[in-house]
Amino acid sequence: MTRKAVRIAMNGVTGRMGYRQHLVRSVLSLREQGGLDLGDGTRLWPEPVLVGRREAALRDIAERHGIEHWTTDLDSVLEDPSVEIYFDAQVTAAREEAVAKAIAAGKHIYCEKPTATTLSGALELARLATAAGVKHGVVQDKLFLPGLRKLRRLVDGGFFGRILSIRGEFGYWVFEGDWQPAQRPSWNYRAEDGGGIVLDMFPHWEYVLHELFGPIRTVQAVTATHVPQRWDEQSKPYDATADDAAYGIFQLEGGAVAQINSSWAVRVHRDELVEFQVDGTHGSAVAGLRNCRAQHRSATPRPVWNPDLPATETFRAQWQEVPDNTEFDNGFKAQWELFLRHVVLDEPWQWDLLAGARGLQLAELGLRSAAEGRRFDVPELSL
Ligand SMILES: NC(=O)c1ccc[n+]([C@@H]2O[C@H](COP(=O)([O-])OP(=O)(O)OC[C@H]3O[C@@H](n4cnc5c(N)ncnc54)[C@H](O)[C@@H]3O)[C@@H](O)[C@H]2O)c1
Repeated sequence: MTRKAVRIAMNGVTGRMGYRQHLVRSVLSLREQGGLDLGDGTRLWPEPVLVGRREAALRDIAERHGIEHWTTDLDSVLEDPSVEIYFDAQVTAAREEAVAKAIAAGKHIYCEKPTATTLSGALELARLATAAGVKHGVVQDKLFLPGLRKLRRLVDGGFFGRILSIRGEFGYWVFEGDWQPAQRPSWNYRAEDGGGIVLDMFPHWEYVLHELFGPIRTVQAVTATHVPQRWDEQSKPYDATADDAAYGIFQLEGGAVAQINSSWAVRVHRDELVEFQVDGTHGSAVAGLRNCRAQHRSATPRPVWNPDLPATETFRAQWQEVPDNTEFDNGFKAQWELFLRHVVLDEPWQWDLLAGARGLQLAELGLRSAAEGRRFDVPELSL
């Protein structure tokens, strides 16, 4: 086996996603398994170069994980021809400028969603990357989660018959930060800093619905800022200027209707933090991040509405667990592997910056729908 190194500038690795999912669970995990087997006697060996604003935090991560290279100077990394890939998991508001610079420097691009704070910004990045001829991708991790992969298997196997509707429930209680610290960064709750649940979650719903069930043709949303005051990382009170809940209805090509609630102001009475129920003429399924249960038409009970009697059926017990039938790796790592193969072997790849821009399109139309109280068509995007 020969080893082929690929140097990756990783910006935003001091953050929640950058550190845990992308650095530790993806790139370092690939190194722990001896690199990525390219199938031709070569193993691809990712060499991260940590990039960020805070020297002490970067040094600490580098020392903890035995990483040789780190810097607070993004420009110097972009000028370094040995760095092939630029990865960005910074706060959303900082992404567009950094990614545009990295494209101009000829780097391949991989980044978190949303790829920018506006549709025009996201489209511009897609155009720049295409014109520069670099490879580009956006994180669409939910597609690689066990629950959704099993759901996809049901769709692909024709289990549902004609799909009628999808109902998604996402959310959990995010503490205000006064008497218990908030478990999400405060910028998420300030519109002026790129926050808001629509900007955060509609990009996910776009690719989940699009890939599993078909393109979204209309969007209608109601948003709310249920918790108007929160306390930041320094325990200082601030006004929450961004939406913390969104109630969306999406009509899909082919007629299915998807309805997804997203909220940081709900308490969980579900099995997982996100769940999608799909109902079709031949069967239904409920998928979360890890699990997926299904009920075929032949095993569908016949409940009769009678509020005078207590429910006698245990409805949840009437569903069948969809088996794994394979080993699922971390979803972020699985997508990293595909992106690296796309970069070095030119293997097919569909989750590019144009796909990322579709997420911004849905978020922008969703916010407009909420502001104007109207339903909007979602036109096909092109470069
Ligand atoms: N794919 C997913 O499931 C998923 C989940 C959560 C967040 N995200 C995305 O990942 C990105 C990072 O989110 P996070 O939750 O890790 O955020 P975070 O606040 O934990 O981390 C943000 C990172 O950006 C850096 N940064 C750069 N400029 C900054 C600035 N001006 N102010 C503050 N920090 C700055 C920070 O140092 C830090 O490394 C966001 O774009 C978010 O939308 C994706």
